[in-house]
Amino acid sequence: MKNRREFVKTALATSAAACLRPLPLWRAAAEPTADSRIEILLDEPQGAISPNIYGHFVEHLGGVVYDGLWVGQKSKVPNVDGLRRDVIDHMKKIKAPVVRYPGGCFADSYDWRDGIGPQEKRPRRTNFWNNADTDKSPANHRFEPNEFGTNEFVHFCKLIGTEPYLAANLRSLPAAEFQHWVEYCNSPAGSTTLADQRAAAGYAEPFDVRYWGVGNESWGCGGNFTAREYAVEFRRYTAWLPIYGQPLSLVASGPGGEEWSWTREFLEEIARKGPGQLRDIYGMSLHHYAWNLSRGKTNDWDKGKGDALRFEPVDWYELLREGQRMEGLIEGHWQAMAEFDRNHHIKLIVDEWGPWYRPGSEATPGDILEQTPTLRDAVFSGMTMDIFNRHAGKVAMANCAQLINCLNSLYLAHEDRFVVTTVGRVFEMYSGHQGGESLRTEFSAPQVHYDRDGQAATFWGLSGSASLRGKNLLLTVVNPHVSEPREAEIVLRGAAFSSGTVTTLSHADLRAKNTFDRREAVMPTTSALPAADRIVHVFPPASVSALALQLR
Ligand code: AHR
Repeated sequence: MKNRREFVKTALATSAAACLRPLPLWRAAAEPTADSRIEILLDEPQGAISPNIYGHFVEHLGGVVYDGLWVGQKSKVPNVDGLRRDVIDHMKKIKAPVVRYPGGCFADSYDWRDGIGPQEKRPRRTNFWNNADTDKSPANHRFEPNEFGTNEFVHFCKLIGTEPYLAANLRSLPAAEFQHWVEYCNSPAGSTTLADQRAAAGYAEPFDVRYWGVGNESWGCGGNFTAREYAVEFRRYTAWLPIYGQPLSLVASGPGGEEWSWTREFLEEIARKGPGQLRDIYGMSLHHYAWNLSRGKTNDWDKGKGDALRFEPVDWYELLREGQRMEGLIEGHWQAMAEFDRNHHIKLIVDEWGPWYRPGSEATPGDILEQTPTLRDAVFSGMTMDIFNRHAGKVAMANCAQLINCLNSLYLAHEDRFVVTTVGRVFEMYSGHQGGESLRTEFSAPQVHYDRDGQAATFWGLSGSASLRGKNLLLTVVNPHVSEPREAEIVLRGAAFSSGTVTTLSHADLRAKNTFDRREAVMPTTSALPAADRIVHVFPPASVSALALQLR
């Protein structure tokens, strides 16, 4: 058996060779020689893919809002009304459908009134993420200037054409403040004092905010409740909310990971007051971060994390394994929900997902929870979005954590520097799935075999998802193997295609990343596919691919 260093060397060399060799990555199939097969069953639709599955998350945390999204109206950084122009432009490009705000844990410590009215009069507060516990120097602590609040956030959403999704504070504000926040956002100008305050700030039109989270991680930072206690609070906070022609879609704080008991006990307690109570809930959130790369050695939150940039092939597979757990979480919680909500009125809202590494890869030192995504995170993100697509009937929304200068960010920015990360590039490749009909797609490929501390371990060989919009079929595929390409025969059952393209994101270096200095180190490349009834395509090692096919 090779030692780890030799394995890495060989893996990377093979990977590089595979990427550099001048072979075409596709060919029209004459004989089915491929070792893998992808069958797209056009006659087995699985439900429409909610565009909101491609949603985002912005929290008042580290460099996410200040320096990331918000640079201020007087900044030299190109901006629209104080909002970083590069972010707006790219989010329009990927058709960003929804953004969650203002947290996260921050939400349950936030008074929304601090963030309205004239900016110069807004109070400075201690931010939930003030890093005082890890950094003893007050000079380095992050305080919340409240320059960016509800008005600026909703304005940002309107500029992009995205829906705002606000998370209300259930831990440290009374229920009346939730009602008042809804009133501030949605009541027509002239009707209430709060609407007049909004109009005085330049926003006469109601914000019409539809999506509201009722607390965040209420089992932890959001109040440390049991599921039953939270259910009682949920009923109280939502028993009456004002509606101004804008029905509200309320999202209950759901489990973190495999806590099936949270889902069951919460719904059981809600329904104890009568099954009709369940109808007031639009969705139940689910959070899952892939953080434990210790290969079963520890469950310690700090010790179990891996490094974002320095990793071996085994860490690559471990991260994907941790991410693949998302599929079981969706299936498991969906099943638990059915015990109380037989017709599945309530959907899953995966409003935080992504890898979470130990500190050390920040593009801007001092930005809490900031990490630099690599090719590994691009593959992880493609894999995760394929899982959501495959469960289109269950998942109504998902929000990648977080948009900029944070965990699985699409963008990194500091002052006038800005870069679209490998994760941002994958969002470009997947945006065509939004609103499409998810199609059952069967993947068959040799498994990946790898060494897990002396134990043989396996991972699936190829996976992905397909969707159809009119005559446009989009197939996205992940090849997780660090060094082997996969040649797959792609069969469309019930259709043929007339033209198509394939866009691929890969790199010879597993750790490749886009940075302020090398902004296009990892870029998708697109080429045409020849028309045929069957296609044989070579998926490069460590890659995400998007095949856009025009059907006849
Ligand atoms: O995304 C960072 C934090 O992770 C969020 O604030 C919290 O909800 C979760 O624990």
